[in-house]
Amino acid sequence: MLDAVRVVGESGWYILGAEVERFEAELARLWGARFAVGVASGLDAIEIALRCCGLKPGDQVLVPPISAFATVMAVIRLGATPVFVDCDRFGLMDLEQAREALAEGGIRCMLPVHLYGHALDLDALGALKAKYEIPIVEDAAQSIGASHHGVACGSVGDCTATSFYPTKNLGALGDGGALLTNSDSHARLARTLRNYGQSSKYVHAHIGYNSRLDELHAAILGRVMLPRLAGWTERRRAIARRYVASIHNPNLEIAGAPAGSESSWHLFPVLAPHGRKSQLLAHLRANGIAAGEHYPLALMDQPAMRGIAHREFRGCSRARDFASREVSLPIHPYLENQEIERVIDVANAWQAAG
Ligand SMILES: Cc1ncc(COP(=O)(O)O)c(C=O)c1O
Repeated sequence: MLDAVRVVGESGWYILGAEVERFEAELARLWGARFAVGVASGLDAIEIALRCCGLKPGDQVLVPPISAFATVMAVIRLGATPVFVDCDRFGLMDLEQAREALAEGGIRCMLPVHLYGHALDLDALGALKAKYEIPIVEDAAQSIGASHHGVACGSVGDCTATSFYPTKNLGALGDGGALLTNSDSHARLARTLRNYGQSSKYVHAHIGYNSRLDELHAAILGRVMLPRLAGWTERRRAIARRYVASIHNPNLEIAGAPAGSESSWHLFPVLAPHGRKSQLLAHLRANGIAAGEHYPLALMDQPAMRGIAHREFRGCSRARDFASREVSLPIHPYLENQEIERVIDVANAWQAAG
């Protein structure tokens, strides 16, 4: 780690230099994309990707109801209107409902999220894109390394956005993100937008952003983190397999991953019975298990959404139900075997009361 810091420190070049270029090339290769463009965060990557796809204020964007708030915030920051379709039983965007919404017309762009590290059905996504001829931005902030039937998530969209927030599967020592694309023109525009819309020195063709991935983050990501990613992903998968094989509590439903998805298991969601989530959380935490919630409120129910133009396609009852029951068990590559067994024992010992 300190070697990577030294390389940057001694180079005397801290913004948009050789380390960013090197990391972008490695990331693009890993993802099977022609271009990767490093930016300051996953949120910015989504917003810049949407702009590359020509999104304008007032345009309607199809979004899932369960995700990090950043997903919908990118849409709103552009003045566009989120249209929520419900989630499926895994908490992911229901692609059948997405098809119905697209068939009704009026949708300008689609922003599916490969949530929890699970890849959505890429064949279905590709079919929607071909049939309705709409741009797709894939939010792959949680799913680097995930694939569907052997095809990497991020291979269908016009652009894919990812995040290097420290807790992500590929995490930096601070904020960072990247946009991936096969389009020359999208890559060029993204590079311009991240740097104040500057098209050539001191010429600004667009109102852009200050959204650059720092050399320091790029060096640490490229030299220290990226070479470890495959091993970390394998470890996450082994932990998920162990949980699936060993958690047998009739009160707990393992949310699981859709068939065909080779998940990178960013998170491991389980569902408590209705009205019992806080009891389950209290039980896990009282027994030393760092359980989380992803996410306790569906996006359209966030206080910040009050007064913001948005639409629910057919109501999002499944998402609200999912959000009210979801609890995330610890899953990260540095969990020790005995810690994993402890999680299993504590989960299996829980008896829903009342
Ligand atoms: C699904 C999803 N989308 C977008 C983001 C935003 O990424 P960042 O925190 O790097 O802005 C995150 C992470 O917080 C995320 O989990």
